[in-house]
Amino acid sequence: MVLDMATSRNRITKAVIPAAGLGTRFLPATKSTPKEMLPVVDKPAIQYVVEEAVTAGLSDVLMVTGRNKRPLEDHFDRNYELEEVLRTKGDAAKLTRVQESSDLATMHYVRQGDPRGLGHAVLCAAPHVGDQPFAVLLGDDLIDPRDPLLSRMTAVQQERGGSVIALMEVPPETIHLYGCAAAAPTGQDDVVRVSDLVEKPTEAEAPSNLAIIGRYVLDPAVFEVLRKTQPGRGGEIQLTDALQALASDPSLGGPVHGVVFGGRRYDTGDRGDYLRAIVRLACEREDLGPDFREWLRGYVSKEM
Ligand code: G1P
Repeated sequence: MVLDMATSRNRITKAVIPAAGLGTRFLPATKSTPKEMLPVVDKPAIQYVVEEAVTAGLSDVLMVTGRNKRPLEDHFDRNYELEEVLRTKGDAAKLTRVQESSDLATMHYVRQGDPRGLGHAVLCAAPHVGDQPFAVLLGDDLIDPRDPLLSRMTAVQQERGGSVIALMEVPPETIHLYGCAAAAPTGQDDVVRVSDLVEKPTEAEAPSNLAIIGRYVLDPAVFEVLRKTQPGRGGEIQLTDALQALASDPSLGGPVHGVVFGGRRYDTGDRGDYLRAIVRLACEREDLGPDFREWLRGYVSKEM
């Protein structure tokens, strides 16, 4: 009985998705449309992220939003008028497409009022999350649905406790774009023990070429640490700094481990990577892929 209670308290059921960013890299497209709603083929980028959480068993999703983010709430809600029109037309396929996003997860929203950084966004989730480990998924990182990462991270968290972050080897000249981890092997090929973290170091400062990519499974102790975390890089409250405090003192909330991801990841916050994600995912789609690949082959051989 005692064991059962402990297990249910530690089960991971909640996902937090910070989505208050302004998306200035995509102006003017993001002047009145949230960047999370930009389509990747025919689905908004954010829907892939919510689907990833649900696939990993986390169907309670809290989005941390801000001004001008109402379209996110509408996208994950019912659209009765559109549904009625499609039903009257007898268009079952499109009706399913419309309902997919509203049937996906139990959605909750909290507004970040004052955008003071990623750490502050995560702190806004504290009342909803309570005293359980939980996942954080950053909307700019799109993980290819065929290369599961989050479910591996939740399994590692359940095995080892504490917090687990997603890491990926990147070329050293790009490490300044990421949080960076110093880590030691654990005996499990894809799992490392994190000893040190630094947000967006220069190439010279970086302790490794292991970059944090936007997936975290966190012990709730992170909230107490975030409350005390002073503004760091860019004057913002950095999640990386709170994780650094956890990694350097496991008595606060257990150890910090990293899962080293070797799969496909796209940064949809970067225009070049965003285009690459669309082309790759379109090429691989059963419905669009065959025609699109043929066109692309011709385009590349003639025009480039
Ligand atoms: C954030 C984190 C950074 C992480 C990155 C992954 O930075 O602060 O540690 O490496 O996401 O995408 P941002 O890209 O939001 O500036």
